[in-house]
Amino acid sequence: MKILVTGATGYIGGQMAHYLSSQGFEVLCMTRNGKAVGALPIAEGDLLKPDTLLNALEGIDVVCHFAGALGRGLTDEMVHAINVTGLKNILTAAKQKGVTYFLHISSGAVTGPMGPTPANESTECHPYTIYERTKLEGERLALSFSKELGLPVGVARPTFTYGPGDPHKLLMFRYIKKGWFFYIGDGYSTNHPVYIDDLLKGLLLMIQEQPVQEVYILGGPKAVSKREWAETIAKELNVKPPWFCFPSSLAWAGAIVMETIGKWIGIEVPLTRSRVLAMSRCWGMDIQKARNDLGYDPVVRLSEGVAQTVAWYQKNGLL
Ligand SMILES: NC(=O)c1ccc[n+]([C@@H]2O[C@H](COP(=O)([O-])OP(=O)(O)OC[C@H]3O[C@@H](n4cnc5c(N)ncnc54)[C@H](OP(=O)(O)O)[C@@H]3O)[C@@H](O)[C@H]2O)c1
Repeated sequence: MKILVTGATGYIGGQMAHYLSSQGFEVLCMTRNGKAVGALPIAEGDLLKPDTLLNALEGIDVVCHFAGALGRGLTDEMVHAINVTGLKNILTAAKQKGVTYFLHISSGAVTGPMGPTPANESTECHPYTIYERTKLEGERLALSFSKELGLPVGVARPTFTYGPGDPHKLLMFRYIKKGWFFYIGDGYSTNHPVYIDDLLKGLLLMIQEQPVQEVYILGGPKAVSKREWAETIAKELNVKPPWFCFPSSLAWAGAIVMETIGKWIGIEVPLTRSRVLAMSRCWGMDIQKARNDLGYDPVVRLSEGVAQTVAWYQKNGLL
């Protein structure tokens, strides 16, 4: 089985490419501008340049599509272009090249901010940010493309992923170390961290089982409160746990003011409405469908995963 991994210069795609290679699969990494992924073979490919995709897909059986825009530092139009138009381009190219399975990496965030009941794959989605909205649009596009054009597509929704090497959560760890981290709301709203190794195993199960037109949430063993998350990190760093709670309504008003100023002077501001929602609302997920159908079994406890992550950041001089 020859697998093309898109987004292989990114965090999860890079980890998956190395994991698949270590499991004996033939892996080709799709990257832009000749960027390397360790010693793995690469093929040039840009989601927004359809011709490059046809070349990258030559001889490929399975596509693991991680490439995407998380939303930071890009206009809404760019995020839409990468997460929706770019996805359509690679689905079209994959169909043309006779790919036998296309694993699309969506996100647990497609539900948008939730209440205390954990979301499952059938929960109605109310995405808020451009990232959430375009990931949902992409997921729906991939499923309808599969139905109408016969490309076998499965959709994975990873939850909040963390682990050694993750550049995206580093700032949070740094803020907790410096004592700058605070809660928005009371800190008891949930999050659903998944340790990278658990996620990779879940994604491999999808590649092996090849479920078609099915969506699977791949999360950690359980949802945790923001307090449990931050206190676990503080404990591992041997610093005082965060304690300050900023009222959500004030944070919301502050975010509107900051966003307006940020737009005027053209800078990214630290407090935005999407951050307020991320911090104050619940994001717990139900992973029962993946457990039942795929045998998915995440085992890494939060304390263990955080310890590994902190150790990696420290070893690499980042924390
Ligand atoms: N991180 C999480 O907690 C999380 C949780 C749930 C779902 N996800 C999803 O998982 C996927 C990977 O996330 P990540 O955290 O690994 O993201 P990441 O580190 O930001 O990586 C994004 C990747 O997409 C590539 N890319 C962007 N635009 C492209 C284009 N036009 N053509 C080709 N490649 C392009 C980037 O390549 P360059 O290096 O060239 O920019 C990079 O390799 C995303 O689809 C994300 O929505 C992530």
